[in-house]
Amino acid sequence: MTTRLPFSRRIVIAFVLMTMVVSGSFSLGIVAVVHFVEDQLISKELRGKLNMVLHEDIRAGREPRLDARTRFFASNSAGHPIPERFADFPEGFTEIEEEDEASYVYVLEANGARYMLLQDQREFEDREEILFSVVVAGFLLCIVLSWGLGVVMARQVMAPVARLAGQVRHPDQLDTRTAPLAPSYAHDEIGHLAAAFDKTLGQLRRSIERERLFTSDVSHELRTPLMVISTSCELLLENEPHDAQREQIERIARAARDMNDLVRTFLMLARSGLDDAAETATLAEVAREQAELWGPALRAKGLDFELVDEGADTAGHNPTFLRTVMANLMRNALHYTAIGTVRLVLERDGFCIEDTGMGVPAHERDRIFEPFVRGTAARGEGLGLGLSLVKRICEHTGWDIAAKSGQEEGTCFKISFAPAHAPDQPRGSNP
Ligand SMILES: Nc1ncnc2c1ncn2[C@@H]1O[C@H](COP(=O)(O)OP(=O)(O)OP(=O)(O)O)[C@@H](O)[C@H]1O
Ligand SMILES: [Mg+2]
Repeated sequence: MTTRLPFSRRIVIAFVLMTMVVSGSFSLGIVAVVHFVEDQLISKELRGKLNMVLHEDIRAGREPRLDARTRFFASNSAGHPIPERFADFPEGFTEIEEEDEASYVYVLEANGARYMLLQDQREFEDREEILFSVVVAGFLLCIVLSWGLGVVMARQVMAPVARLAGQVRHPDQLDTRTAPLAPSYAHDEIGHLAAAFDKTLGQLRRSIERERLFTSDVSHELRTPLMVISTSCELLLENEPHDAQREQIERIARAARDMNDLVRTFLMLARSGLDDAAETATLAEVAREQAELWGPALRAKGLDFELVDEGADTAGHNPTFLRTVMANLMRNALHYTAIGTVRLVLERDGFCIEDTGMGVPAHERDRIFEPFVRGTAARGEGLGLGLSLVKRICEHTGWDIAAKSGQEEGTCFKISFAPAHAPDQPRGSNP
């Protein structure tokens, strides 16, 4: 079983437990020794006194010579009868500790008679109580001291670990120019940990940099041929082509524009901050444009398509991101719906795309947002990248995406622009 307690607290607990065991054993040892010595010494003393009374005083017919704290009883003496309550006491030493009485009793049986010495021990008991209080106070003090010492030690032990954690967590760590961590630590376990972080962070930095360069190179290099295609389409349209040709040219121009949008999306995702100054579009504007694009395709497949405005959000959004998200969800709705209706519903805080398709089984609902994952409903030649791109855009913009679906009941993907959680921690899952 793994414990979730912070390491520093575990150090403190270990200190306190160790002290409890050590000082507890010492305290118990002291109490046991005091009791043992008390039993042995007092028993020896009482036996000696009783023998003296019997052999010197009683034999000589004298009254026992005892101090005020000690009394003598005998079963065969009318002057010192054994009180009723001591009648059953066993032979040897017994200690009486009652609320109003604290005494030692020593019983001796000889020649068919019982002899008894009773010694008041309240004074000793009071001292014993003081001693035990001191032992308990010492025990508690040891625990408090060990707790304090544990806190100080834990802080000292954890200081380099906390410093290392802070450095590893720092956003600059992914910057290739950041200095390595290991040289600023001693050559111990923490130094080894820092060296391991340096190695892993180095690999991570290199692969991030490679991916960033790849994405921006590819995106950048694709823009020129795409521009050539778009301009050529415009020129071809100026030559008054007949209807069938016009339709094909417009399809090519639309595809080039879609690719251009995708290139921009990839560039923006690769270089965070690039989209800050970009133009904005409202949800209704982008939805209208996407409805014009996907409506005919849906109807051509025999599906109904509805654009429902339930009081759409009026804020300005990055049009490239919004277009890419909506287009991917619309394309999926078109692919994975055989009969029925696809609805694009604009809401106050976002939008949802509902279909009456085959739905996503519950066990697939989280995984379909991962790259290269296709569900059992997968159709055609897709790679399983559409929803992962949507999810990455949502992480980048702070939007929230949730999928609601039941098998045979269709699917509903909902995008919320104002999620309850902070950006970069997307839910990307089913509610
Ligand atoms: N509207 C939907 N209805 C039913 N299943 C869906 C729907 N949208 C997505 N899915 C499931 O989620 C999987 C992942 O979708 P995603 O868009 O990521 O990939 P894809 O559509 O298979 O391929 P690509 O988008 O890369 O062309 C799909 O394979 C499909 O099983
Ligand atoms: Mg898809």
